[in-house]
Amino acid sequence: MHSKSKSVRLVNVTKAFKDPQSGQPVTAVDDVSFEIAPGDLVTLLGPSGCGKTTVLRMLSGFETPTSGQILIGDSDVTEVPPNKRDTAMVFQSYGLFPHMNVFENVAYGLKLRDMPKDAIDEKVTRFLAMVGLDKLSKRPPSRLSGGQQQRVALVRSMIVEPSVLLLDEPLSNLDALLREQMRVEIRRLQKSLSITAMYVTHDRVEAMSLSDQIIVMNAGKIAQIGTPSEIYRDPINSFVAGFVGKVAFFPCAVREFVKGVDELSTWEMKACRVEIKGKTFDIPRWSPNLKPSDSAVVMCRPESLSLGEPGAGIEDGIVSANVYLGNSVESWVKRQDPSQSDILVQIDNPDVKKIWKEGESVSLTFEPSLAKVLAA
Ligand SMILES: Nc1ncnc2c1ncn2[C@@H]1O[C@H](COP(=O)(O)OP(=O)(O)O)[C@@H](O)[C@H]1O
Ligand SMILES: [Mg+2]
Repeated sequence: MHSKSKSVRLVNVTKAFKDPQSGQPVTAVDDVSFEIAPGDLVTLLGPSGCGKTTVLRMLSGFETPTSGQILIGDSDVTEVPPNKRDTAMVFQSYGLFPHMNVFENVAYGLKLRDMPKDAIDEKVTRFLAMVGLDKLSKRPPSRLSGGQQQRVALVRSMIVEPSVLLLDEPLSNLDALLREQMRVEIRRLQKSLSITAMYVTHDRVEAMSLSDQIIVMNAGKIAQIGTPSEIYRDPINSFVAGFVGKVAFFPCAVREFVKGVDELSTWEMKACRVEIKGKTFDIPRWSPNLKPSDSAVVMCRPESLSLGEPGAGIEDGIVSANVYLGNSVESWVKRQDPSQSDILVQIDNPDVKKIWKEGESVSLTFEPSLAKVLAA
């Protein structure tokens, strides 16, 4: 690990603003606590306005918490000004110096730190090569594509090896293919330099593919913290379930909690036995606080659903569209209740599976071992 890698800790941080129109206080960040381990990349994921940028601005020092504490490593930086914090920030708008060429932009932070010229030349050349920009070092930013400009912005902030790198929706201005490439690049650079990083996005695919941990935020509060797979497979509530991936919810009644035997071991474990339209299912995951006779929902991801003859499953519907994606087909199913959106069923290896045609009546079936029972 990079010797400077530091942890980041927020302890009960709240930030209230005064609404510019009404003059009323707005709680942008509400009693938020979390920790980032040294060298980890943690993503704040949530809808627009949930407080992500405010958390980042408090980490960089451009905002001061109304209450609570911010620590970088062992130091309390809550009141420390931005230029004394050793953080670097990358924005959606690249923020390059227009009058400097690529090399000068990247060298800027090292010059400020009085690094000798030879050492600067060596380091800038090495960093530009890492992102394939060594041939463009003399170009002004105005003669670079968006992706190239964002690469310059990235290496410019990473080259000073800050204790904490902060990235606020850095890929939002790029097209889809470039975003995918840059995701991989950011992760590779961040890991190879072992820089502790906080990444902000409202894009779940970005969050899933980049992060060691994801913090899902909603309305200023933390909804859940977990690894990408924990958040996807084991969301704490229906907000998180729906925000981090496509999902279908089927109303059910909780009957009892039963003992079963795990297939992989002889451990005894409990399952939540639920009833959906007279059929019972034992589901291995459920949200805490559920009690027998509660009404709840069974949460299913697209890959855990399959289609069959009408009447054979837990709900009937009509195939509204099939989207062929090569290694899978996405079948959309219109539900009988028109107020509910269509359900996505992912059919892998479509060449050896039955694909129901658009307009055909079908029933939906789910794989209980992949499902979770959530409070309704
Ligand atoms: N300087 C400010 N003054 C007043 N309200 C603000 C200010 N900055 C942010 N807010 C409000 O705080 C909330 C969270 O904003 P922000 O952190 O930018 O959300 P996000 O980055 O998740 O979209 C929003 O309701 C926003 O309008
Ligand atoms: Mg924002």
